[in-house]
Amino acid sequence: MKGRIPEPVYYGDYLKLNELLGAQSPKSKDYGKEEHEETLFIIVHQVYELWFKQIIHDFGSVVQIFNKNSVEESELGTVVSRLERIIKIQGILLEQLDVMETMTPMDFLEFRDLLVPASGFQSAQFREIEIRMGLGTGNRIAVDREYFLGRLNEDDRKRLENVEKDPSLLQLLEKWLERVPFTQENNFDFWKEFEAVVTEMMDQEQDIIKNNSATLPEQQMKAQLANLVSTRDTFQSLLSSDSHDQMIKEGQRKLSQKATLNALFILLYRDEPILTQPYKLLQLLMDIDQGFTTWRYRHALMAHRLLGTKIGTGGSSGHMYLKRAADNNRVYTDIFNLSTFLIPRSKLPILPVEVKKKLNFYFSENLS
Ligand code: HEM
Repeated sequence: MKGRIPEPVYYGDYLKLNELLGAQSPKSKDYGKEEHEETLFIIVHQVYELWFKQIIHDFGSVVQIFNKNSVEESELGTVVSRLERIIKIQGILLEQLDVMETMTPMDFLEFRDLLVPASGFQSAQFREIEIRMGLGTGNRIAVDREYFLGRLNEDDRKRLENVEKDPSLLQLLEKWLERVPFTQENNFDFWKEFEAVVTEMMDQEQDIIKNNSATLPEQQMKAQLANLVSTRDTFQSLLSSDSHDQMIKEGQRKLSQKATLNALFILLYRDEPILTQPYKLLQLLMDIDQGFTTWRYRHALMAHRLLGTKIGTGGSSGHMYLKRAADNNRVYTDIFNLSTFLIPRSKLPILPVEVKKKLNFYFSENLS
């Protein structure tokens, strides 16, 4: 800016309104009878694509911040505010479906066949968001993978294949979580302490069930004890690196054991000042995942309402496909699953003084 006097700007030129407002070309008009509702259909999709662009813009900057060997506390503040913005945008994305639904199924039928085989499958920006979040082609179920690349033109396919070569936020999050210190200090091994607490809690629960034998029918007691064994196994699957790695191989977990354990540590000690932002970050990632999942279910319902059980213009089974995609295409499930391993605050292992100190900010009066 320095040295250069800004030139006067005209609103319409700056926003390129001629291009933007001239970019709605209903297909029905080409075929002789313009359908009133087709303009709404086009505008709603275009507005979505603009918001997708903004999400990619913000998400890209978050990925850039994480794509380093260390992330400053102040940068984490930027990450949090950008992710919070994405969540606000997701709110608009969800509400926009209400506008789309003011078009009735019969209105849609007047021009729908003219659009085949164009489909939301070909929204390269939607795919880019999914990939940047961490939903790579390899993480998709087979049928979904076929749609994923099969419906795109050469340019979009190549572009997305390149996006896939960049590290995703999930991969960078894993590296960042692996770097979280605090759990191993000198003679202190947090996870040994945690395991001891969990074992004690389980033993106690087992005693309670057994002591209840007078009032509990045998069948129920057996079922409760079997449940307890399975809870112990679940904890063990997290604390044993072999079991955890096996779950990764089976596609049941995505993050490495170290990253997962450190994420759990953040959730357990989120009240410690230094963990406030990391805790917020994990919450926001879950919110974003939840936001897209909610949108997917809502979009599936809209497709059901507008198409019934007809197939989609992209050739999928329609709303059934969309429902399945909503179930499967979640990214940060490992963070959601951590709630399984939370324990009451009162049972948290006491941290050694040197760890406690590192988790706190100290404001000294003597700044010299
Ligand atoms: C009349 C309204 C709509 C109907 C009936 C509809 C229906 C469908 C159907 C059936 C599919 C599955 C693919 C196929 O076979 O075509 C699909 C996919 C998709 N649609 Fe829509 N859609 C509508 C509006 C929208 C809007 C406004 C957006 C916003 C961008 C959108 C975004 C998508 C995306 C991203 C996919 C791919 C989803 C995935 O594979 O996970 N759709 N849509």
